[in-house]
Amino acid sequence: MAFPQQRPRRLRRTAALRRLVSQTSLSPNDFVAPLFVKEGINAAEPVLSMPGVSQHTIASLRAEVNDLVALGIPAIMLFGVPAHKDARGSGADAPDGIVQHAIRQLKDDHGETLVVMVDNCLDEYTDHGHCGILRNDGSVDNDATLDRYASIAVAQATAGADIVAPSGMMDGQVGVIRNALDSAGFSDTTILAYAAKYASALYGPFRDAAECAPKFGDRKSYQMDPANAREAIDEVALDLDEGADIVMVKPALAYLDIIATLRTEFSAPLAAYHVSGEYAMVQAAAINSWIDGDAVAMEHMLAIKRAGADIVLTYFARRVAELLGV
Ligand code: PBG
Repeated sequence: MAFPQQRPRRLRRTAALRRLVSQTSLSPNDFVAPLFVKEGINAAEPVLSMPGVSQHTIASLRAEVNDLVALGIPAIMLFGVPAHKDARGSGADAPDGIVQHAIRQLKDDHGETLVVMVDNCLDEYTDHGHCGILRNDGSVDNDATLDRYASIAVAQATAGADIVAPSGMMDGQVGVIRNALDSAGFSDTTILAYAAKYASALYGPFRDAAECAPKFGDRKSYQMDPANAREAIDEVALDLDEGADIVMVKPALAYLDIIATLRTEFSAPLAAYHVSGEYAMVQAAAINSWIDGDAVAMEHMLAIKRAGADIVLTYFARRVAELLGV
């Protein structure tokens, strides 16, 4: 057995985790707010393509998370935007890197009442904007990248992350991260795998927010082809075998068939990421008064849950919780 067995107890460890995986209908308990924290800025900077979303300072991040916790949101997904980028994404696993700093601060503020998830990838940290280490010909070196992901996961767990979320779509990433975490004494640290992540045009606004658009080429050699459905089953099976605790489909609304299929095929908690482009489309139309933004947002969330998602990552998390009331 190359990989440690899945340990369901990880998901029962805190009240917030248990709320997160409960199989109920629309409730703040089921939502995760993705948040951006940027190094070297003095005030939060609005992301123009995502009205209502900002790149945070540590101070504005703390204020936002206080509000989210008060609204009953159990979890956040952190993305770091470093001041300096290089070819190997050194900022990603630096002990004093921006995301590690943010994790420590938020765990200090909230302890077990907040599930701190963190994106485990390189694109926010590399100067070329790709999710891995590149060979001379510009292609991604899968196995060299795995070493980086393992080191990043340990740095994030050391800072106090509850959940690490590998999003780079390298083969074997979940197993390598699980082994690295266990070897470093973090067997309780949970893995949320971006298992069925499609090469989507809907990530555009995120790449503004995380400043991570690839400088050349695209991500089609590592992210999934939108034409493929059965392949999602294989991806999820591999990730679960390697020790993933939660698996995710991304984006959400254009992939509801995938969510529904995975719900019937697997019993692990299933997340869906309602991504930046999905959010931006609703906000753009709402700002023009072409649609009722709140109503459409709630309808979208309902659709994602109805398809079978237990957990929804969305930039609407705060708004949804406000609308649901606590
Ligand atoms: C990769 C990552 C991306 C998103 C989440 N993690 C960008 C990408 O794959 O290009 C996109 C999320 C969104 O669009 O909201 N670190």
